[in-house]
Amino acid sequence: MIIEGEEEFVMTVIMAAGKGTRMKSKKSKLVHKIYDKELVKRVAELAKNVGSDEIIAVVGHLKEQVKEVLGNSVKYVYQEELLGTGHAVLQAKKYLEGKQGKVIILYGDVPIIRKETLQNLVIKSFKNKEYATLLTAIYDNPTGYGRIIRDEGGNIKAIVEEKDANMFEKEIKEINSGIYCFDIQELLYALELIKPNNAQGEYYLTDVIKIMNDKGLKTGALIVEDNSEILGVNDRAQLELLTRVLRMRINAEHMRNGVTIEDSNSTNIHDDVQIGVDTVIHPNTIIKSGVKIGENCEIGPNAYIREGCEIGDNVKIGSFVEIKNAKIGDRTKVPHFIYLGDTEIGKDGNVGCGTITCNYDGKNKNKTKIGDRAFIGSNVNLVAPVTLGDDVLIAAGSTITEDVPSNFMGIARQRQINKEKKGKKN
Ligand code: UD1
Ligand code: CA
Repeated sequence: MIIEGEEEFVMTVIMAAGKGTRMKSKKSKLVHKIYDKELVKRVAELAKNVGSDEIIAVVGHLKEQVKEVLGNSVKYVYQEELLGTGHAVLQAKKYLEGKQGKVIILYGDVPIIRKETLQNLVIKSFKNKEYATLLTAIYDNPTGYGRIIRDEGGNIKAIVEEKDANMFEKEIKEINSGIYCFDIQELLYALELIKPNNAQGEYYLTDVIKIMNDKGLKTGALIVEDNSEILGVNDRAQLELLTRVLRMRINAEHMRNGVTIEDSNSTNIHDDVQIGVDTVIHPNTIIKSGVKIGENCEIGPNAYIREGCEIGDNVKIGSFVEIKNAKIGDRTKVPHFIYLGDTEIGKDGNVGCGTITCNYDGKNKNKTKIGDRAFIGSNVNLVAPVTLGDDVLIAAGSTITEDVPSNFMGIARQRQINKEKKGKKN
């Protein structure tokens, strides 16, 4: 990681050994998802994006599930018994030993911290030469959290856990988020000294703050501006809460960038979506990660834009439309009740109501290619693989199984016959 022009070594330890009993799940809490991405994967990606040179996950309970999600993007250490947060970090000793630099401590179930916040934490620790820099927050109701003890000068002295706090300490509103940036060697030194002589009989990571202060090492804190960043997931209600926080954060960013979102509550725009200015998103729209949408488009209501879609400018994707891995050219209209999968369609096209691409033959996903200025009538089945040229016209109700060359009309339906009605005539 580059700090003020200098290359500095920064690693991250992710605590991922916890049980997550309150999820009432057969799966590890850490593999539950927010917007299609596992909690622990969000944390590992955050660690990477912040610039970590090395990432260690401390795994334990249901470790195979966590490993399956993270693969070889991190190194693993195993915590057999959950003896406390200090004990958990100590399991990473073999990776911390002999390294000069900083280590960030994160949690597999605290997944929506902003990258900028962590960067500021690390930068502060280097700039101010702090051996421990804590991420803290001010809570109206601090119950349950470790409290930050400062002296009259405002210097951090220690962290006291709720269960060990006296009545005065319980009044303190500054809480420990559990996220820190430590000097690697001084952390190791302090970790070896902590003892489980507290109300919970645990090895508290928080005890290293007092140990460092007693040794005369400088410590400090960064108070988080947006408390929602340090929220964790313990149960399914909190999973929903964090999804909501992320939804509002992502939508707000798009709105700041010139996108109109009519109803933020019902608009799920996943991570890393690009949307051009003056595009309007109507309610009940889902846009999956990685999708690109151009300028001045109209999307929804009730549109489902899935993975792999690239939408040009001035495109209309209307109601009850699902598109997947689809490239839609400028000014093309896909107005209602349509499924396009693995499809490329050029510019100035119109896709009629009820059109679907039959892209799956039971084994493979096949492609549909459509040129510019195509007019696809209503209720058309495009049986892929199939290619339609430019300026084609497809008659309503057709099931198209053969390619249609440019400037041709395709019609593939039974000719109508009118039969005389039997029985009573009026
Ligand atoms: C911890 C902090 C507290 C802080 C709070 C913020 C300590 C002693 N206290 O308290 O100051 O306000 O977080 O949420 O650190 N874990 C392991 N192995 C263990 C113990 C814990 O992996 O042996 C993991 C847990 O699964 C959990 C996290 O570490 O994800 C926090 O552990 P927990 O014991 O719940 O700490 P808190 O009581 O929340
Ligand atoms: Ca906890």
